[in-house]
Amino acid sequence: MVITTVLMAKSDIRIRACLPGDEGALALVGQATFLETFADVLEGSNILKHCANAHSIECYRSWLADSRYKLWLAEISPGQAPVGYMVISPAELPLADISLRDYELKRIYVFSKFQGNGLGRRMLQEAIAAVRSFGAERLLLGVYVRNHAAIGFYTHMGFRKLGYRKFNMGGQECDDYIMGLMLRDSGE
Ligand SMILES: CC(C)(COP(=O)(O)OP(=O)(O)OC[C@H]1O[C@@H](n2cnc3c(N)ncnc32)[C@H](O)[C@@H]1OP(=O)(O)O)[C@@H](O)C(=O)NCCC(=O)NCCS
Repeated sequence: MVITTVLMAKSDIRIRACLPGDEGALALVGQATFLETFADVLEGSNILKHCANAHSIECYRSWLADSRYKLWLAEISPGQAPVGYMVISPAELPLADISLRDYELKRIYVFSKFQGNGLGRRMLQEAIAAVRSFGAERLLLGVYVRNHAAIGFYTHMGFRKLGYRKFNMGGQECDDYIMGLMLRDSGE
């Protein structure tokens, strides 16, 4: 029974590039997955403040209108309800060697019910293909130092720790690792 459910979830989730008009779905999934991920880790009132700002409909609308950004939704059959999302952008991270050839995995979130079933890998592969097509040399990201599960996922997928940053989450200062994935062989 469990196996059937897992197999169905795996085959019935599609990942599609977002278009203007998807900002409502993105804001909903962005807020809900952030709350789900950090409810027992971060201060509740700060999570709500962060979601109201960083996951507003206006925020996603502006990213959808910005050609430097690319966003995706993961949607499940039969009704195509959103169960995850992802955002890439030019990198804005405090690394000494940051360059225009660095892109950032700004968001990658899947609802817990659908995690551990290959969706995160499929989404990340989409992101890597997209930034490669932009000529990127590295895919960078910031991840909260206490988000051990995500750090494990990124490490498994080939990312390495490159530095630190401070991240303002609804007024609460959080420590993030900066991680990066090299996209070109050193011999190229
Ligand atoms: C991080 C996240 C996107 C990964 O998605 P997922 O669907 O759970 O990941 P997958 O099932 O595709 O896993 C891909 C691979 O990573 C491995 N993996 C996943 N989590 C891991 C962990 N904590 N440690 C080591 N390996 C891990 C899987 O075993 C799998 O390996 P394989 O493909 O070689 O067999 C998802 O768990 C999530 O949304 N987490 C909460 C939100 C979050 O923290 N986002 C990141 C914020 S910076």
